[in-house]
Amino acid sequence: MSPDRELRVSKIRNGTVIDHITGGQSLNVLAILGIDGSEEFSLSIGMNVPSDRLGRKDILKVEGRELSQSEVDVLSLIAPEATINIVRDYEVVEKNRVERPTEVVGVLSCPNRNCISNDDEPVETRFAVMDDGVRCDYCSEILRDRIAEHIDV
Ligand code: CTP
Ligand code: ZN
Repeated sequence: MSPDRELRVSKIRNGTVIDHITGGQSLNVLAILGIDGSEEFSLSIGMNVPSDRLGRKDILKVEGRELSQSEVDVLSLIAPEATINIVRDYEVVEKNRVERPTEVVGVLSCPNRNCISNDDEPVETRFAVMDDGVRCDYCSEILRDRIAEHIDV
């Protein structure tokens, strides 16, 4: 694409650029990060922008914020192609592709209301990551398309 036809969003000084997010998933990624726009930092969201590799993608630029490993783990479930770029003083100092973890602990709630992880007794939720979803270790309930709705972080 010729440079004058590209979408231009300001570069950030310090923070994280989450690139190559599955098209349409950036609002769910923000939910994972607990960002709702009430924060002080600036945030740029590009949704369904053209991408050579993905056809269309979302991109998020979060000023002044880096991500924790558990946030990246959950993010990988809904945006498996995402790239996490850490920016310091305008330069990309680190670029990582997300990796699907083998399990996610303490970040998703089980959709099965009778599951022991939903009892009052606090027990940490545990899900095994499969190719097409995640499976609760306690009750074997499988969560496929609605992962973002069950994020507890
Ligand atoms: N970026 C930014 N602010 C900076 C530096 C980079 O917003 N100070 C953004 C770029 O606009 C780009 C992403 O971070 O969307 C990754 O930057 P870079 O690695 O320079 O771009 P590419 O080489 O195109 O990335 P990739 O190879 O991962 O597609
Ligand atoms: Zn369960």
